[in-house]
Amino acid sequence: MADDTILISTEGRVATITINRPDKLNALNEPTRAAIVTALHKFEHDPEVRVVILTGAGEKAFIAGADIGEFDGRTPVDQFRVMNSPEANAFEAADRFPKPIIAAINGFCLGGGCELAMACDIRIASDRAKLGQPEINLGLLPGGGGTQRLPRLVGLGDAYRLLYTGDMVTADEALRLGLVSEVVPAADLMPRVKALAAAIASKSPVALRYIKEAVRASVRAPMDEGLRLERTLFGLVFSSADMKEGVKAFLEKRKPDFQGR
Ligand code: COA
Repeated sequence: MADDTILISTEGRVATITINRPDKLNALNEPTRAAIVTALHKFEHDPEVRVVILTGAGEKAFIAGADIGEFDGRTPVDQFRVMNSPEANAFEAADRFPKPIIAAINGFCLGGGCELAMACDIRIASDRAKLGQPEINLGLLPGGGGTQRLPRLVGLGDAYRLLYTGDMVTADEALRLGLVSEVVPAADLMPRVKALAAAIASKSPVALRYIKEAVRASVRAPMDEGLRLERTLFGLVFSSADMKEGVKAFLEKRKPDFQGR
């Protein structure tokens, strides 16, 4: 399936969303953000899809930020409406997406691009990637969660440094900061991310879903509430057919076949 702004492909139980505006370095305009939200909504309800990969078309960019062209002439009221519209809030859609979602960062990953990558669960970068939050250079601040997710990933000092300066960091520096989990040669990026996605897709979808719910709570709820939620979800998952299959397969020394029930 394809539309103008994103491409979608599936391989086994893994779906890939490719932002497809390479001539604009995959900058996120409103139709693109809405297409991402729509695609994630579809994948959420498709039991055949267990893991989603997000990447950018072309050699140069993952996503070079919000489409700056859209800012020109837009009224504050319009901007407020756009940012608060759930149909176009790709950042929240990725964060709330109840299945694992991996960003394959194949180039410039700036502004809203970096924010969207941070809203994904895992970030793997090509050695050519450059990451940063350059909004300050436009007299702006990040509006897709950057002020909240960046300090949680890299700590306050480095978050302030990146947000105050707008400087880009190399993939290796992003790895050192904890902004990405892995850096691989550009040619190996998609094979590596697909292998990781396939490995995760072979696990119990039930357990994956509740791991994600519990981990999301770790940055939102006080520790005691998070721990209580974890124990509750553990009890819930304990009743799944997948759990019974996982334990049985271990005892029978075979690979489990998880059905997502
Ligand atoms: N919004 C809209 N268009 C963008 C864009 C963005 N965020 N980033 C790049 N583009 C467009 C450029 O305008 C250019 O379009 P054109 O060919 O029609 O003129 C095209 O993508 C290629 O970009 P270009 O700037 O020529 O590439 P470069 O290799 O010289 O520079 C960057 C790459 C990423 C350093 C530079 O494009 C840039 O700084 N982009 C903006 C990043 C940013 O501030 N993002 C946060 C937005 S809030």
